[in-house]
Amino acid sequence: MDENATSANQQTNSYVIDAENAAEMARLMLQDHMLTQAMGGLFPEQINLTETRRVLDIACGPGGWLLEVMKQYPHMQGVGIDISQLMMEYATGAAQREKLQNVYFRVMDASRTLDFPDNSFDLVNGRILAGFLSTQQWPPLLAECYRITKPGGILRLTEAEWGITNSTAYDRMTGLMIKAGLQSGHAFSPGGRTVGTTAMLRRLMLQAGYQVLGQKASALDYSAGTQAHKSNVHNFQVFYKLAQPFLAQMEVATQEELDHLYAQMEVEMLAEDFCAVDYYLTVWGHK
Ligand SMILES: C[S@@+](CC[C@H](N)C(=O)[O-])C[C@H]1O[C@@H](n2cnc3c(N)ncnc32)[C@H](O)[C@@H]1O
Repeated sequence: MDENATSANQQTNSYVIDAENAAEMARLMLQDHMLTQAMGGLFPEQINLTETRRVLDIACGPGGWLLEVMKQYPHMQGVGIDISQLMMEYATGAAQREKLQNVYFRVMDASRTLDFPDNSFDLVNGRILAGFLSTQQWPPLLAECYRITKPGGILRLTEAEWGITNSTAYDRMTGLMIKAGLQSGHAFSPGGRTVGTTAMLRRLMLQAGYQVLGQKASALDYSAGTQAHKSNVHNFQVFYKLAQPFLAQMEVATQEELDHLYAQMEVEMLAEDFCAVDYYLTVWGHK
């Protein structure tokens, strides 16, 4: 790994949370499991994988999705990239522990030119990239994806709309996050009512040159009494703790207001009448 490049990447990166934070890595492992389960598996949209050999996962975090793909499809060769050195080291160790020789992980900034030759991958996957990509950075990244996708190969993107809820505090926290996202250029919704990325995926892929083959929506209900309640409440507790510096920096609320809101959110999320759903949209297309 090129450590100078890594530290330069960290300085210019616009991820809303510190990517080298171990609590963030643990949160992403949890989120990866819930996301894959909510989506109905690794490839619920039933892409034809018979010809798929080389797979790239962009911003793969600790690598959960890619490692599972490599276990289930040993004929494939996987590459995971992420800006976080910590996460790439963890994922490399996890691959070694699992004795997976068909996958490797590299530190790479996905908001810059991707360090792969043209036509290198049969499948390029990206889940939840909105946390670091500004609206302006989507087209250049998808142009890079197109360049490195083999003719006939597939790009598959999944984005989310989070925190649809009856909790006043959690709803307000989600609203502040979207407002901060809008101010920092990460949200597509002009009025800041939603993140809006899911609505853009198809158009962004078409603009990059892909032929869109399908879209699939899924939902994760983590209301009180559901199986996912404890895990996803924990996920958002950690997320909103780690995102506080970003929210404060964007001046969407004072630190005192954030502390108060966070405490109220925790109470409401654990109440027996708490209801919440996250929605995901996967869009896939080929070159
Ligand atoms: C929400 S997570 C993605 C989760 C993962 N794709 C999954 O499905 O479980 C966002 C990831 O983007 C990474 N990241 C942030 N900025 C990045 C950048 N400029 N280039 C590549 N990865 C980046 C973070 O380190 C983090 O692992």
